[in-house]
Amino acid sequence: MVEHKRIGILTSGGDCAGLNPVIRAAVYRAVGTYNWEVFGIRQATQGLMQRPPKAIKLELEKIDPLLTAGGTILGTTNKGDPFAFPMPDGTILDRSEEIIEGYHLLELNALIGIGGDGSLAILRKVAQQGNLNLVGIPKTIDNDVSCTELSIGFNTAVKIATEALDRLHFTAASHSRVMILEVMGRDAGHIALNAGIAGGADVILIPEIPYKTERICEYIRKRQDLGKNYSLVIVAEAVRTENGEFVTTNDSFGQSRFGGIGQYLAHRISGCSGAETRVTVLGHIQRGGTPSPTDRIIASAFGVAAVDLIAEEKYDHMVAWQNRQVFSVPIVDAIAKYRAVDLNDTLVKTARSIGICLGD
Ligand code: F6P
Repeated sequence: MVEHKRIGILTSGGDCAGLNPVIRAAVYRAVGTYNWEVFGIRQATQGLMQRPPKAIKLELEKIDPLLTAGGTILGTTNKGDPFAFPMPDGTILDRSEEIIEGYHLLELNALIGIGGDGSLAILRKVAQQGNLNLVGIPKTIDNDVSCTELSIGFNTAVKIATEALDRLHFTAASHSRVMILEVMGRDAGHIALNAGIAGGADVILIPEIPYKTERICEYIRKRQDLGKNYSLVIVAEAVRTENGEFVTTNDSFGQSRFGGIGQYLAHRISGCSGAETRVTVLGHIQRGGTPSPTDRIIASAFGVAAVDLIAEEKYDHMVAWQNRQVFSVPIVDAIAKYRAVDLNDTLVKTARSIGICLGD
């Protein structure tokens, strides 16, 4: 018999498809199986800083529509590190104690944090400081959390990028153009590599493999010689210029964001291959919309497993997907370093073996 608990759940960092199905599964397990109470905390840790803390009780009867809903009903943010929180008057405050107090005001016994490596690192630091019972669930379209083959949101993002390539294929062929698709992924090339193979890209550029524009052009010219009048290039946003610089823009808060490598490459590729180029930046479309079946499946498995970790009082752990099974790993191992594309990865070998140019 598992004793009664009151648990909190929050989503932190950039949203992605699959967050709502995790919340649904966690409520099914916690309320349906164990008869616990679950509180959904609004806007990541910011809900715990508010007074009274901003949270809603999640009811079993109302959660079914969450399976197919994109985004997160709880809201999220990827701004405002609680240890250096920017206040409206311009000062920077450490608000971690407010989060700990919010957890106690809600009388929580445990907290499920759904986040990427950055969010999980922050949540763990707060949990250690306040002796809070934390369990983590990995989510990010970038798929760069260590110790798990899949993070929630990645599969949907790959599906969307693949569909974009499928569409670009026809217009590229019709106009004899080189079409460049710029995708997200931060420092990791998982989206570009996976979607590139699935969507029949001719060139895949990822941050982990330095490229030479001349190599890309040689490859495009060879295709032209074979009568292939068009090419598809997929490039991850954190691919650098040939001088090794990131291409970024500043957002409205003055924060630097990746963006623009596609345009940089377009000029250089048309310069050395003579081909007409066009650029599509897929952006946040990769994060929105209905979760794919795979994301719904791992979200359901993760939601259940996270609640079971709490039932076992196995805290400071994150659920992870390995060989089609859910495991748990210490959060500290999952956040130790980000998971880049391994150059010995089967998919790198596969791409090369089916004639895709990786730019090197
Ligand atoms: O980490 C997820 C991610 O979508 C990255 O791939 C991308 O660089 C970043 O977030 C975009 O962040 P924002 O939503 O703040 O523009």
